[in-house]
Amino acid sequence: MFATVSAPTSKTALPGDLFAAIEQLKKDLNAVVLAHYYQEPDIQDIADYIGDSLGLSQQAASTEADVIVFAGVHFMAETAKILNPDKLVLLPDLEAGCSLADSCPPDEFARFKAAHPDHLVMSYINCTAEIKAMSDIICTSSNAVKLVNQLPSDQKIIFAPDRNLGRYVMEQTGREMVLWQGSCIVHETFSEKKILQLKMEHPDAEIIAHPECEAAVLRHADFIGSTTALLKHVEVSEGDRFIVATEPGIIHQMEKQVPKKHFIPAPPEANCNCNECPYMRLNTLEKLYLAMKHKTPEITIPQEIQADALAPIQRMLEMSAR
Ligand code: 13P
Ligand code: SF4
Repeated sequence: MFATVSAPTSKTALPGDLFAAIEQLKKDLNAVVLAHYYQEPDIQDIADYIGDSLGLSQQAASTEADVIVFAGVHFMAETAKILNPDKLVLLPDLEAGCSLADSCPPDEFARFKAAHPDHLVMSYINCTAEIKAMSDIICTSSNAVKLVNQLPSDQKIIFAPDRNLGRYVMEQTGREMVLWQGSCIVHETFSEKKILQLKMEHPDAEIIAHPECEAAVLRHADFIGSTTALLKHVEVSEGDRFIVATEPGIIHQMEKQVPKKHFIPAPPEANCNCNECPYMRLNTLEKLYLAMKHKTPEITIPQEIQADALAPIQRMLEMSAR
């Protein structure tokens, strides 16, 4: 999927205590480990910072570390590299992509954009560097509504690539936008019927959902937000049981932060584990250790894309701070 130089794996002996070895490598390399909530629990536990896409971008923009080890998916590590072109950015498994980013091929998007010449392009951060370079503003699930509300009311907008987040933002802002029809395989897998069955079994449970979910799921949600917003909500809510309609990796942090509360992962339509992001789960503690030890796989950005992709990310960071 990406141009790869894979980290050596089977021939490298692993230390007995991976946690201690990674802590040592952090010191040796002056490295920071940034992890998304969808990473496996061990990775979350070794991370210096765990957050949603906005928090991770803000950390990447402000870090003084020489090396950024990104425990997340490719577009997240790519964003960190765009913000830090002179730093080494490592991703434990370069195959950790994103179905949503893949649902927006750059050549097709260029034609779509050309067909709407008077539109501003707001792209969700879950997209490739090429799409970012064609965008005016990047947003995340935690600031999309806020950013759209800052745009002049007569400004026409293309929103890409997630149609579900786009539709949710339209509802919240009352703005019409032209939506690219992309989606996330994980967030479109949740079954409305099974969620309602769970709600009947646990009538006291709150349904909480990520805005990448389909409208059929979101309309039952008591609370909708980014992963960080969902985590904050379960802390402050008076409820003590939650049906969680997002990737279940976040439940590790929820259980750590509010151990007395109960979390039920929203079930997928089929009898499968397809509510787990197959890309996020490619990263393991072993691969993270090997990436740091061998300083590969490294994220690189073609020079002709770097500057054009940086401007809309910086615009997001500025508008988000307002
Ligand atoms: P967040 O903005 O909550 O980090 O969402 C990232 C993501 O990939 C959701 O699928
Ligand atoms: Fe991409 Fe969906 Fe995985 Fe998030 S959960 S990284 S949007 S495939």
